[in-house]
Amino acid sequence: MRKPIVAGNWKMNKTVAEAIELAAAIKRELGDCKDVDIVLCPPFTAIQAVSETITGSHVDLGAQNMHWEKSGAFTGEISAAMLRELYCHYVILGHSERRQYFGETDAIVNKKVKAALAANLKPIVCIGETLEEREAGRTEEVIETQVRGSLADLTPRDLVECILAYEPVWAIGTGKTATPEQAQEVHAFIRGLLRDIADEAVAQSVRIQYGGSMKPANARELMGQPDIDGGLIGGAALEARSFVEIVRGAI
Ligand code: PGA
Repeated sequence: MRKPIVAGNWKMNKTVAEAIELAAAIKRELGDCKDVDIVLCPPFTAIQAVSETITGSHVDLGAQNMHWEKSGAFTGEISAAMLRELYCHYVILGHSERRQYFGETDAIVNKKVKAALAANLKPIVCIGETLEEREAGRTEEVIETQVRGSLADLTPRDLVECILAYEPVWAIGTGKTATPEQAQEVHAFIRGLLRDIADEAVAQSVRIQYGGSMKPANARELMGQPDIDGGLIGGAALEARSFVEIVRGAI
């Protein structure tokens, strides 16, 4: 059985003081939870403070992005080792906002995935189609290109360290969620791709999160689908109560 994983993607929100307050509230409610992997992904500036706040609990830490090089003249960038030093164990890579606003391609995401794995960080690799692509009947083609490109050259051992996040771009921050059936269909397709890229064992062990307007009211039903193994939560992760409820919906 795959253990559910629910991650909060705080995006460009929360000052250090606000981040501490949110992380402390989540730790109070879920600090002992062993049934779900819980990951908080604050902005870089709050990672250290959140790291200190959640120590000694089962709540884990992730970042929202990183560079693929180890160090050097890359103004404004952060390396995998820098994240590890702050006890990050996960990193979101290839989020659609990174692809859309910062020009990230599958080739770039692939370099980052390899650098994260080399530093012992688990990548949360985001994929998803736009509304235009869905309406043109191109969802599977787009997903296949993203999955194969982002995960190129990975060994089965690498692949099982990855988490995939299916986030239809049209559902992110829009209040429009994919129906459980729509999401399940794409998740099953992604699992089939993993079987094709590697083998059945890899396909059965990689966790695939759903993301895009997940909230307490729809989380349980989405995560109850056979191939949906958790959620990547944006807006609803900015408030302890809704995030905690979503995590409870995964059990
Ligand atoms: P949302 O964002 O939950 O606000 O739709 C999800 C995401 O972008 O990861």
